[in-house]
Amino acid sequence: MAKTVTTYVCGECGAVSPKWLGRCPNCGAWNSFIEEVQAPAAAEKPILKSMVRPQPLSFVREEKLKRIKTGVDEFDRVLGGGIVPASMVLLGGDPGIGKSTLLTEVSGILSKEHKVLYISAEESASQLKLRCNRLGVNSDTMLVMNETALENIEANLDGVEFLIVDSIQAVYLDALSSSAGSVGQVRECASRLMRLAKAKNITVFLVGHVTKEGAIAGPKVLEHIMDTVLYFEGDAENNYRILRAVKNRFGSVNEVGVFEMRENGLFGVKDYAGIFVSESRGENAGSVVTPFISGNRCVPVEIQGLVAKTVFGMPRRMSLGIDYNKLVLMLAVLEKKGGLPFYSQDVYLNAMGGIKLGEPSVDLAVLMSLASAYTGIPLDAGTAVFGEVGLTGEVRGVSRAEMRVRECINAGFTSVILPKSNMKSAEAFRSRIKLIPVSYVFQAVRELTKKNKGRDAEEQPQ
Ligand code: TYD
Ligand code: MG
Repeated sequence: MAKTVTTYVCGECGAVSPKWLGRCPNCGAWNSFIEEVQAPAAAEKPILKSMVRPQPLSFVREEKLKRIKTGVDEFDRVLGGGIVPASMVLLGGDPGIGKSTLLTEVSGILSKEHKVLYISAEESASQLKLRCNRLGVNSDTMLVMNETALENIEANLDGVEFLIVDSIQAVYLDALSSSAGSVGQVRECASRLMRLAKAKNITVFLVGHVTKEGAIAGPKVLEHIMDTVLYFEGDAENNYRILRAVKNRFGSVNEVGVFEMRENGLFGVKDYAGIFVSESRGENAGSVVTPFISGNRCVPVEIQGLVAKTVFGMPRRMSLGIDYNKLVLMLAVLEKKGGLPFYSQDVYLNAMGGIKLGEPSVDLAVLMSLASAYTGIPLDAGTAVFGEVGLTGEVRGVSRAEMRVRECINAGFTSVILPKSNMKSAEAFRSRIKLIPVSYVFQAVRELTKKNKGRDAEEQPQ
């Protein structure tokens, strides 16, 4: 066998060097050299088998996407309705969040009808068996392998329809001298697996570790070659987990799946009451519920705000689940247009249940939560809020207002504060829920103070 030769290539400019270098002599970038297996000599190169010619788009045959249900409803939903055969799915998340648990459950179900191979590169086969027993997965039909060398994995793929690699950072190619988990290894292994997936029609699930910052460890190119990239998120304290797609070539990226980690596995959660909304809302100031749309699903989520007097010179602003810049913008609007000064107040904001609220429709709820926290006046527990806020203090209409109002009714809310421009689509629900249209933020803040004037006055921050 010919000896494989590796070279080092600068990730920034493409300069090639036989040795690793700390700094690229060509472009001056630091720490940019990645080890690569050199392409085989010209004689070994495959000869082009067919000549593909350009053709008009209308001649291209449309293929209907076949989808295979994995059997875990919430997982299927995030994938866009099931797994597309021969696709590559990357599942990232913090350690211990439940990546292996989820994929073991999925493989257990898939192995009833398909040939599934689970590569457990991090745990021994007996550890995997223990988990299978715990999850009640029938282990007769599921193939497992405790292997880290990709060449050995490749040699065992005959007839395999689903391959799970847990994790991509733990497998390595013998041909590369760098250690498993290094940028070069992760990139080479993933692209080898991708070629395999497409050539042998294997659906590949990869588990990926995340860095301290929360991104999938390894080169960005890993996410580029994937068809679908999923993140598993959640709070270490509570047992709820949220599965989110950040890239999906075959479906919406806004879908979320909600799971609960129990003693005997992960279970999809259909009834959210109590996860994203607390029991005690309406009693304490700072809590505001907003109907948040993610993909095709509308979930009422509670936003909690806390305002405390600044002890040191610089006021603190902290936000969990809501963009920090959005918090700062809403504070500025409240100061200027709502007449509430925050310059001497620390402000904390949190979206319940560990969900990330990225939609502009949460603006008004964020603003009202801050106003409620500042004034010490709680918003009525039966009131939900949605709307986008502009820097001039106007409340703008948002998309799918009808769906939001319907969800508020379903969740038992009795009134909803919404943008005036959304009234047309919400009008149909007038008999079932009280609609409070607002055009400017001061009107929304007035709604808060109208009923409860003077209440909790002693709690007001100085
Ligand atoms: P795991 O899937 O190993 O996490 P990851 O692969 O993302 O690192 O999950 C580990 C955690 O889940 C561990 O703390 C134990 C817990 N767990 C349960 O609570 N119930 C279960 O049925 C299983 C299998 C794990
Ligand atoms: Mg694991």
